[in-house]
Amino acid sequence: MLVDDRRVNACLTLAVMHQGARVATIEGLARGEQLHPLQQAFIDHDGLQCGYCTPGQLMSGVACIAEGHTGSREEIREWMSGNLCRCGAYTNIVSAIEQTAKEA
Ligand code: FES
Repeated sequence: MLVDDRRVNACLTLAVMHQGARVATIEGLARGEQLHPLQQAFIDHDGLQCGYCTPGQLMSGVACIAEGHTGSREEIREWMSGNLCRCGAYTNIVSAIEQTAKEA
């Protein structure tokens, strides 16, 4: 999740610690029926398999793009490190982030 546009591990923080902050989660990423461009890119590039890691990957990917850490696939991998995918969809996740960053 994002707290004031910064990445935070949702499982390691308490909501009460962020009173008054702007909290963004996967539920707020789409605009009604319109998917966020990164959500669409995950679909386009098969950036998921079981979907367990997908909310975290998407929120971190959104931040990665906003932070400007998308100069190369290696840079994206570095700044997305720590987001584990037990299905091994990393290559396609990087492709989705790369595409979205280019179109932004
Ligand atoms: S898609 Fe299954 S853990 Fe990432």
